[in-house]
Amino acid sequence: MQREMILIVNFGGHESQVVARRVRKMGVYCEVCFYTSDKLPHKSATGIILTGGNGDLATKDGLLRTLPLGIPVFDMTDNTADVSDDKLNHFFFTECRVSGGWCMDEYAQDALETLRTQIGTGRVLLALSGGVDSSVVAALLSKAVGSQLYCIFVDHGLMRKNEGDEIEAAFSDSGMNFIRVNAQERFLNKLAGISDPEKKRKIIGEEFIRVFEEEAAKLGHVDFLAQGTIYPDIIESGIGGTAVIKSHHNVGGLPANIDFKELVEPVRLLFKDEVRELGRVLGLPEYLVSRQPFPGPGLGVRVVGEVTREKLDILREADYIFRDEIDKAGLAGEIGQYFAVLPGMRSVGMTGDKRTYDYTIALRAVKTVDFMTAQWTRIPYEVLDAVAERIIKEAPHVNRVVYDITGKPPGTIEWE
Ligand code: XMP
Repeated sequence: MQREMILIVNFGGHESQVVARRVRKMGVYCEVCFYTSDKLPHKSATGIILTGGNGDLATKDGLLRTLPLGIPVFDMTDNTADVSDDKLNHFFFTECRVSGGWCMDEYAQDALETLRTQIGTGRVLLALSGGVDSSVVAALLSKAVGSQLYCIFVDHGLMRKNEGDEIEAAFSDSGMNFIRVNAQERFLNKLAGISDPEKKRKIIGEEFIRVFEEEAAKLGHVDFLAQGTIYPDIIESGIGGTAVIKSHHNVGGLPANIDFKELVEPVRLLFKDEVRELGRVLGLPEYLVSRQPFPGPGLGVRVVGEVTREKLDILREADYIFRDEIDKAGLAGEIGQYFAVLPGMRSVGMTGDKRTYDYTIALRAVKTVDFMTAQWTRIPYEVLDAVAERIIKEAPHVNRVVYDITGKPPGTIEWE
């Protein structure tokens, strides 16, 4: 598919992803490969960059001996941070003689052609969650094969305010077959009386698959199952060909009894911000493309303890207000992730001259690069004040708002 490709060979560590992001930002297409990968010597790379590893010279020398003669190699192992843009430019444009100019429009055109060839007249099934990755995959496949695509959107009732309707509005008249399953009752019944976070996650995950399978069975035979796997999933799972990706998918717990002949993963070589860019190129609305991460089990993990309809309604309202005020304050772009949590505790408060015994809402806002570590965001007091005032006024049965000032570690981003 790609005419020019720089291959980044990863000898361990996370530098390869950082380098790959940097190379692509310079308009040069690259892929990352683990140094043990069996596809390595056969790749038709225009140039090679070596990253990571702690100076394992024997392995490196062994690898260099297997490369085609004359292929330019840039050795960045132990000094990635010191490499200037000038040096990289020299490597790409003088030594490798790449023409550059790789951009998302080009990627989209290539991806559409590849998908049309791969899918032919077959039927494709996609579980559309409304998250960035599956939304972009839906948009891409819809453009490529239109009514051959069937999207099943399982509304588990654990979405944020208006989210289900927004997803339906974005996709239902786009030429694909869009199926929304309103399974709210079903999930609530399964979750009744369950407080343990891991049990809740398991129930939500399993129920999701059951609903998806039932709906898929109504469609009959499908040829392809599409997935929004992205590049970091692949790089972090150890790199490899289709076999590894399939096992990655199986570990992810996707449906066992849907008979399909092949997986379709059209954004598998893209990083998250590139997936967002592709979404924009395909004309998806900005609120879908720029969404912050949202856990698969949704508000099910943000209601601590037992999940009930009442708690979900309260949380949805409080979360909506928080996000609205952050948007109005122009802070959305500066904060990695921000949301409300319902810790499930109630305490005594006052409304007018009346004593109340109502819920607490916790606000969480973090800055993070990789979601592995995070710092709590210093939101201005005036903004916090406005959020708390509105939540108390507009969200039912809330008499207390608190702000979480814990980093990760020792906390996690979600509460659960
Ligand atoms: P924690 O709470 O582990 O969260 O610090 C790290 C990041 O992962 C997101 N998260 C999830 N994302 N499915 C997802 O797709 C999940 O089940 C899930 N649980 C947590 C979380 O929102 C944060 O961005």
